[in-house]
Amino acid sequence: MPAATDSNLFRQLGLKHPLIVAPMAGGPSSVELTAAASAAGALGAMGGAYSNAAAIEAFADQVRQRTDKPFSINLFIPHSIPDVAADRLARAAEATARYRQELELPPPRLGAPYEEDFDVQFEAVLRVKPACFSFVFGLLSAEHVREAKKVGIPLIGTATTLEEARALEDGGVDAIVLQGFEAGGHRGIFDAGAADPEIGMRDLLAQCAGTIRVPLIAAGGIMTSGDIRAALQAGAQAVQMGTAFLACAEAGTSAPYRRKLLEASERRTRTTRAFSGRFARGIENRFMDEMDGKPDAILPFPAQNKFTRDMRGASTAKGLPDFLSLWSGTGKGELWQGSTAALIDRLFGE
Ligand SMILES: Cc1cc2nc3c(=O)[nH]c(=O)nc-3n(C[C@H](O)[C@H](O)[C@H](O)COP(=O)(O)O)c2cc1C
Repeated sequence: MPAATDSNLFRQLGLKHPLIVAPMAGGPSSVELTAAASAAGALGAMGGAYSNAAAIEAFADQVRQRTDKPFSINLFIPHSIPDVAADRLARAAEATARYRQELELPPPRLGAPYEEDFDVQFEAVLRVKPACFSFVFGLLSAEHVREAKKVGIPLIGTATTLEEARALEDGGVDAIVLQGFEAGGHRGIFDAGAADPEIGMRDLLAQCAGTIRVPLIAAGGIMTSGDIRAALQAGAQAVQMGTAFLACAEAGTSAPYRRKLLEASERRTRTTRAFSGRFARGIENRFMDEMDGKPDAILPFPAQNKFTRDMRGASTAKGLPDFLSLWSGTGKGELWQGSTAALIDRLFGE
């Protein structure tokens, strides 16, 4: 057993490498990717945000059939239910009518709830008892923190500013992912409607190292062993990498998404609210280009996420990247298409 006094969370967890293969909800974080990452000595992570309790438990069972190594589960902190007025929904429907026609979809129907019930998901996490529970988009309530601590699940929050990191530390987390502006996927900003602080990973790490006492995990644009070394030297105890693993053999990344990721080594990305109503970074495509010019036709998160789900699904089914959220960070270079274990070995010099 690792020593309980060890201040390094990642040694405590018995990891061989200070790496979290990012939780990537919506497909990429397959059972196979999560298990392969953990089996190779990193921390694999389930992106459970869009999964109900039964799916979270089934996923964990399947990971455990493949490896006895630790893995984590990640969820989205819930949002207050946005008020989607009829005229707003009509604008969103009108702006997307042409796309739904092209995709041979019926007109949209939208109603609450817009996301899974967090309390029910969280109860499943407590039953599964993963090695860690991580979350994004805000603070975990004191009650949830107490419940996780009672069963001994370490907590990892996500911050995009020093202020968010301070609030997470005060809230009792065991480690903090510092998510830089370079990161692929949703920005972890607490306030879904706020402007993006746009702080890069290195600046955020420099602001937090020495100020925040809990272990820091650097995320955003980390692609190589040199990037990992630099983040560790700058005060991170570990790194979290998403984009670099998206084309790995085990990743659940869909065929049209993979194609776009591999099309060019210099992926043109930017942040957009078009897909979900929250800022997220992805490869530029037609939906983003056309919808970004119509902010009034984009619903608040998470309503927009539910509103675009049928289009994203149909786009995937047709093999079309035009209406897909192609989440990707700013990191350059050809993506690794071999096994997850081989990528981890390369990153850590074996
Ligand atoms: C496809 C994709 C999905 C993501 N989904 C989640 C998620 O469900 N939960 C979360 O905390 N972070 C999510 N992220 C963000 C990652 O945790 C991490 O911050 C990011 O991947 C780091 O930047 P990088 O992609 O440049 O490595 C996602 C990232 C990607 C690329």
